[in-house]
Amino acid sequence: MFSVGKINISNAILLAPMEDITDVSFRVICKELGADVVYTEFVNSEGLIRNSEKTNKKLQIIEKERPVGIQIYGSGIESMAGAARIAEKENPDLIDINAGCWVKNVVGHGAGAGLLKDPPFMQKLVKEVVDSVSLPVTVKTRLGWDNESIQILDVAKRLEDVGVKGLTIHCRTRVMGHKGEADWDWIPKIKEVVKIPVVLNGNVLTPMNIKNAFDQTGADGVMVARGAIGNPWIFYEAKQILENGRIINTVDNELKIKTCLKHLYLAIEVKGERKAVLEHRKFYTGYLKGLPYASLVRKELMSIVEYRIVEETLLNYLEKLKNIFEQEIT
Ligand SMILES: Cc1cc2nc3c(=O)[nH]c(=O)nc-3n(C[C@H](O)[C@H](O)[C@H](O)COP(=O)(O)O)c2cc1C
Repeated sequence: MFSVGKINISNAILLAPMEDITDVSFRVICKELGADVVYTEFVNSEGLIRNSEKTNKKLQIIEKERPVGIQIYGSGIESMAGAARIAEKENPDLIDINAGCWVKNVVGHGAGAGLLKDPPFMQKLVKEVVDSVSLPVTVKTRLGWDNESIQILDVAKRLEDVGVKGLTIHCRTRVMGHKGEADWDWIPKIKEVVKIPVVLNGNVLTPMNIKNAFDQTGADGVMVARGAIGNPWIFYEAKQILENGRIINTVDNELKIKTCLKHLYLAIEVKGERKAVLEHRKFYTGYLKGLPYASLVRKELMSIVEYRIVEETLLNYLEKLKNIFEQEIT
């Protein structure tokens, strides 16, 4: 059971924090398709303290995406505590601390997975954040720095001891980055040493992976990252598998294309047309995956900068798909 603050969800399926992906538009799409909890991308604590406009924008949340967590990162005790207080003013359902980011310029400053190099310091930093806010605080971390230094059982206990209300474990080490098999076997071991909810993350790429992750590990929640990019129906399909043992309603081409357009439309409301249309290009591969002539239409979409033309192109393509389908069955 994912019980954190006022959130109580069994078999919770969570949308992972992802930089430049999980803005409010994508979070709303995933929420509507069944994600139980969603997260902002990681937000730099120093940027928040400096009151940087660009960083502040990342805190934006809206009612219909709840429950939502704001994730912050950094390595300064004072600035992380201050950033948590700033994030709290936006009234998310929880604050999440990033202790898993593997990227060089993040760990180089001792933030993200860099915190795993010094568990007593990490514990001190997290305690300060917990004590600075009244919202529940959770932590997303990894198994350890590398295979020779897996300390997750100790880290999990330390974090529970200072009042952390939930853990997400990306079941890889820092040196693995996003590559290689995630080792889900650690989840039951971690659950043995702490009472707080433990969420599994890593290598959850299909609806069936979600079901297997729950069955194999007894995790309180399963967090989906890359598996949701251009494929937010992973939540919709996984929910069906969990409830009925199989997918009853499959996702048809019309829903795929209309979801792609709705995602873009919502993004425009948040960041304006030009920026939203340009940034949406990274989603076409996923949204159009497996459809006939997808590469041709994708190529066309990559040169468009106006919503109206994206819409026209995609709706024309949808008509074409319907004709292909009719010809095939007659
Ligand atoms: C594009 C991208 C951006 C990411 N940004 C964040 C982030 O802001 N915060 C975070 O905790 N993890 C971030 N991650 C890591 C994911 O949340 C997740 O832990 C990782 O992708 C492993 O899950 P997967 O194997 O199912 O993709 C990011 C991953 C990707 C692919």
